[in-house]
Amino acid sequence: MARKSSGTIGILTAGGDCPGLNAVIRGVAKAAMHYGIKVIGIHDGFRGLVENRCTPIDNPLVSGILAQGGTFLGSSRDKPHKMPMGGQVMDMTEVAVSNYRKLNLDCLVCLGGNGTQKNALRLHEKGGINVLTLPKTIDNDVAETDITFGFDSAMSIATEAIDRLHTTATSHHRIIVCEIMGHSAGWLCLGAGISGGADVILIPEIPYDLEVVAHSLLRRQRSGKRFSIIAAAEGIQTVEQAKARARAEAKGKPKGKEKASDADPNIPRTIHSKTEGEIHLVHEPVASRLARRLQQLTGVEARVTSLGHVQRGGPPTAFDRLLCTRLGTKAGELLAQHKYNVMVGIKGNQCVPIPLAKAAGSKRIVPTDHPWIATARLVETCMGDVEA
Ligand code: F6P
Repeated sequence: MARKSSGTIGILTAGGDCPGLNAVIRGVAKAAMHYGIKVIGIHDGFRGLVENRCTPIDNPLVSGILAQGGTFLGSSRDKPHKMPMGGQVMDMTEVAVSNYRKLNLDCLVCLGGNGTQKNALRLHEKGGINVLTLPKTIDNDVAETDITFGFDSAMSIATEAIDRLHTTATSHHRIIVCEIMGHSAGWLCLGAGISGGADVILIPEIPYDLEVVAHSLLRRQRSGKRFSIIAAAEGIQTVEQAKARARAEAKGKPKGKEKASDADPNIPRTIHSKTEGEIHLVHEPVASRLARRLQQLTGVEARVTSLGHVQRGGPPTAFDRLLCTRLGTKAGELLAQHKYNVMVGIKGNQCVPIPLAKAAGSKRIVPTDHPWIATARLVETCMGDVEA
């Protein structure tokens, strides 16, 4: 039996933060309030729903936050069905659903990347609750949308970093390897690499050959260019690593479980904290190993810059502010029409509802025939492979 509408929605931000989250919260909340819908903010992603930590959102609370980075609601990577609770990992789906019911919500609006799309869908399918999602991530790898919010801001930050590395690399005649976020999708590295004029761009989708990269650097030297900038994504893999991974996957190992950049068998990928289950280990940037090897192969002095979370900080660009406001207000319109269980994405120039079951579960990686790759090659950028 259909439940009576309460005229109240919940909103949460989950996964890694990015510029634009506050702008989307503002867009959703203002549009929802415009249609007479009450809004409740849930703290720290799905964990806040499980722990029933929330705040009513009124107009003053979302005023003046358009340009603020991060998320005032807080975020976490916790999944309802696998949540560290007092030293154990537990399925908290029922608690999450029961709290949704206690809050008397019509719908749970979830701002997040691929993991969040899947978690929201699971809550809908297993718990029978209404969800609506918005595609957030600097990685730009959510399926069924042309772009995700946060990507443009991160690309601007990474581009500026490459600009700055150019002047110092030129002065000292060095190779500088700049590590850019992106474990399985190279959009950010490719976009910033082209925009910043990197000489070499390495992305996870194109396995690289170290010799090819070294030759391209030496060729630059011979032509009188005494510095080189390499934009390298976190998830880059050599041709050999890609083959080994393909062989492992053919034997049934789950896809993407082992990152090439984490391949050192002496280093565990995660450790367990006493109180909260699994926590992440801090890894050496993959760019360090690459710079070391390139210095050996070319004899040119090399340095490393890992941009890390700088790429996720600070205010959103004008492009992202507009995108976030459009996506957020479209979500508000859909909520007013009781259209749920969709992700609000961008197709062409339109904000459109996409069935969540279609968007969740697959990543949008860079196709190797993407026009951006052809563009990079035409300005003599080495992509790490032997060009056809
Ligand atoms: O998912 C977005 C992202 O920024 C990735 O590009 C990056 O690899 C990862 O998050 C870092 O996550 P964390 O903030 O948990 O270290």
